[in-house]
Amino acid sequence: MNVQQAYNTWASSYDMVRNLTRDLEAQVLRAVLPPGSYAEVVELGCGTGKNTAWLAQRAHRLTAVDFSSEMLARAQAAPQPPHVRFQQADITQPWFWLTAPADLLTCSLILEHIQRLDVVFALAQMALRPGGLFYIGELHPFKQYQGSKARFDTAEGGVFELECYVHHISDFTESARRHGFSCQRLQEWFDDEHRAGTPRIVSFLFRREK
Ligand SMILES: C[S@@+](CC[C@H](N)C(=O)[O-])C[C@H]1O[C@@H](n2cnc3c(N)ncnc32)[C@H](O)[C@@H]1O
Repeated sequence: MNVQQAYNTWASSYDMVRNLTRDLEAQVLRAVLPPGSYAEVVELGCGTGKNTAWLAQRAHRLTAVDFSSEMLARAQAAPQPPHVRFQQADITQPWFWLTAPADLLTCSLILEHIQRLDVVFALAQMALRPGGLFYIGELHPFKQYQGSKARFDTAEGGVFELECYVHHISDFTESARRHGFSCQRLQEWFDDEHRAGTPRIVSFLFRREK
């Protein structure tokens, strides 16, 4: 199963089982985004819509993108205001679906599945207006060093591990720098705020400068 097929399979149980990473990242996004509203927002890898309704409250227009039809179907099944649009697309391919320069891009728990961060930062740089923000919330690489990765229980009773790539902290910041972004915030988030443990989530807030 490739990543797209795996998410199509995982979609039916994604929201049903306890998932500390998914739940902590939802809190992180809400804590990190500066207050106020954004004209044009793009949510990359919206999945089943964990963050979509909340982002919609902060957006005049929101495009929620994912390449898994089954994850998207779940997101679309929830009531959404008319300014929310869903798009099935692979975010490593040119963003022809973009209709206006974005003020905010968000990426929650998707980049671990994407081998080349440079591809996404290059597309993000083209999509954002100057001064626009790029939020990223990912499984912390320290967790990845310990073997954590996206995985789910299959109907057959086994555990399926998805194809994942380790991106070190400097991989994010250097790719961002190469594509004209400054790092406004870099934070690490822990289970139960237990700061002596391994951080679960890393978050970045980048700003397009050039
Ligand atoms: C772990 S889920 C996260 C979903 C949601 N953002 C959340 O936090 O619950 C990762 C999502 O990224 C999507 N995804 C992975 N690679 C993608 C790609 N290249 N293009 C578009 N979507 C992708 C998957 O289909 C899946 O819905």
